[in-house]
Amino acid sequence: MYLKFNWHQMLRLFFNKINLKPATLAVLIQAVAFFFVFSFAWIVKSQSLYVISAMPMWFISFLVLMQATVAAWFANITNMAKWWRWIHFIFPLAVWVMSQLHVPNAIYLIGFLLSLSLYWTTFRTQVPFFPSTAAVRQQVLTFIPQHQPMRIIDIGSGLGDMSMYIAKVRPDCLVNGIEIAPLPWLISVVRAKLKGSKADFRIGDYRLLNFANYDLIFAYLSPAAMSDLWQKAQAEMRSGALLISYEFEIEGVESTEVIQAGDNEKMLYVWKIK
Ligand SMILES: C[S@@+](CC[C@H](N)C(=O)[O-])C[C@H]1O[C@@H](n2cnc3c(N)ncnc32)[C@H](O)[C@@H]1O
Repeated sequence: MYLKFNWHQMLRLFFNKINLKPATLAVLIQAVAFFFVFSFAWIVKSQSLYVISAMPMWFISFLVLMQATVAAWFANITNMAKWWRWIHFIFPLAVWVMSQLHVPNAIYLIGFLLSLSLYWTTFRTQVPFFPSTAAVRQQVLTFIPQHQPMRIIDIGSGLGDMSMYIAKVRPDCLVNGIEIAPLPWLISVVRAKLKGSKADFRIGDYRLLNFANYDLIFAYLSPAAMSDLWQKAQAEMRSGALLISYEFEIEGVESTEVIQAGDNEKMLYVWKIK
């Protein structure tokens, strides 16, 4: 019987089988793409492969473009999120352009340290920094009953705007923020000091908090975090407490309320714990 050799399916099977975290998968994809590109270059130009300077510029540029395309294609067949495909495509091109610009090494170090302090363990938590807007803050405020002070926390508080806004408008509430990345946390602490805000910011992982200590938990995280968040909320939040998520639903769990956070804004999903 004739068996068709299907590269596409074989690669998908290979990548799916090893079931890696996105960041590890991304490194593997670039490595496998590099292997393909290197093999191609070896076949086409074996004599001069060890002397990059001997290769014509157009050929090196072609190889870089090939690396970018193959990596983006692998990201596509492994079903990585769309933005990862763009990262895979742009990364080899950016490395090539930067190497041509002869940027001093210190700039790379500064860039690395800045990214590290801003994004910290995003590659593990899969929750990047991205601030919500004033419209979202105003909507969240509407869930705090008039004469009923609440204990409120923004899990993944970023630069602290949500907590500081609520603390200002509802000084009767106890408002906290917890942030895992050092730079946003530090900025939120300094801003709170300068503004004289009552909001309290701590650095840490919300997954280690006891959710029973809060009446309202606001989350603007990512789809990857939602299932675990729900498990924790169900296990720890007291009956009647509110879990509010901006933009991201919990798969298979119907929310108590869904409202649009404002014109051109995404949805706010609210779960009242039973
Ligand atoms: C999309 S931003 C939202 C920022 C802020 N809540 C807002 O609405 O503007 C998500 C934030 O959560 C932080 N984060 C991610 N995982 C976290 C964790 N496990 N514990 C605490 N913060 C976390 C990220 O560093 C990032 O700053």
